[in-house]
This record gives sequence, structure tokens and C-alpha cells, in this order.
Amino acid sequence: MDNLKKKQAGEKAAEYVQDGMVVGLGSGTTVYYSIQKLGELVSEGLQIKAIPSSTETEKLARKAGIPLTSFSEVSELDISIDGADEVDPEFNLIKGGGGALLREKFVDSLTKKFIVVVDESKLVSRLGSFPLPVEVIPFGWEVSVKAIESLGGTPILRKKDGETFVSNNGNYIVDCHFSTIHQPASLHTQLKQLLGVVETGLFTDMTDLLIIGGTDGTKVITVKE
Ligand code: A5P
Repeated sequence: MDNLKKKQAGEKAAEYVQDGMVVGLGSGTTVYYSIQKLGELVSEGLQIKAIPSSTETEKLARKAGIPLTSFSEVSELDISIDGADEVDPEFNLIKGGGGALLREKFVDSLTKKFIVVVDESKLVSRLGSFPLPVEVIPFGWEVSVKAIESLGGTPILRKKDGETFVSNNGNYIVDCHFSTIHQPASLHTQLKQLLGVVETGLFTDMTDLLIIGGTDGTKVITVKE
């Protein structure tokens, strides 16, 4: 059922993509459906170029037949479609559950229209139940972790299959429990100032359009025109 909600939201986002656009492709199981849909549309003649936000998405996009480009050719994107781990009532996001937050932040920040696709389970009254992913450089990561603790968080170094998880950028991810995050923008700024912190999974004031897959169908909320 959740997959159907994700599918509906993911596919709906593809309707906003038009000929000639440069498209940012986020990462995760909801954007997966946007990529599949865009692949179909490309095979029917849609002309786009895409920038993937992770090696996983790059593989999916190639397999779907979507032509790719990079920042050596473009400096701005027309539209980006990305998932989220949490969305608050002000449309601030926690992202990075899959570890792709740095490239996602890059792609989603450089786009004219940022579309967020989620199923309804991602909507929260306050951010923070989902531990906030923070990307840190491996050198001295222990120092970064202590600094995050001093901000009131409980950071846990992400592991995968018993090994330290390494992002596509060669960095570590620290999942930080803050219970509730009252001021996401200022927490982001504080975290970014810490030694070794490269990026945080807080995406504040970025969402232009939110597409929610729910039990009663798909809802589209225009956040910014
Ligand atoms: C990837 O690092 C994340 O930011 C994803 O976009 C986010 O975790 C949402 O993923 P799902 O659509 O798989 O829930």
C-alpha cells in the first residue's frame, strides 16, 4: 500500500517535466517511480537531460534510458524531484535516510522548481523523530561527533553490514537524535559551522511543490509559485 502511495506521488511529479528541461533526480524509493515514469516518457519522445544525485540514481536513470548531463555542462536546473524522510507543516524537510543528502542538497538548491514526493507517513507536526543525517569528513569524525553532542544531539555513526557507511563523496554519515527540532534553519546553520561537518539533512525553505501520496489519492500543494 505504501508503495502504491509512493508510486502515485512519484509518477505525478513526472507530469511537471517538459521538453528541453534539465532535471535533477533525487534518490530513494519514491523518486524511483519518477525515474521509471520519466524513462517511459523519454522513450515516447520527451527530450530532457538529467543530473542524478547518487550513484544509485545514476544507475537507475541510465537503465531507464534518461540522458544525463553534469555541472560541467549546466549550472542551473529547471526542475528537481526528490523524496524526504520527514516534512513539517512549513515544508521543511529531513533528508538523507539513504545517505545521498550532500548531492541532493546540491541538485535541489540549484533548481528553479523543487518538487518533493512523499507518501503521507512522512508528514510530521515537528521534525526530529527521524534521526537527522549529517555528513562529516572521515578525518577527525570523532571530534565532529563531540561537537554535535554539545549542540544537544545524540549522534550515532551510521553503519551498513557491520562496516562504517561511506557516502558517494567518501564521507561518513552521523545520524543525530535531537528529539524535536524547533528551529530547523538555525540548527542547520549551527551544525554547518562545526569542524568536519560537510552538510546536514535539513532542507529548509526549499520546497516549491509537495506531492503527497495518500489513502485518498494524491494531493499536490503549491508552496511557492
Ligand atoms: C536519500 O538520501 C534520501 O534523502 C531520500 O530522498 C529520502 O530518504 C526519502 O527516501 P524514500 O523515498 O525512499 O523514503
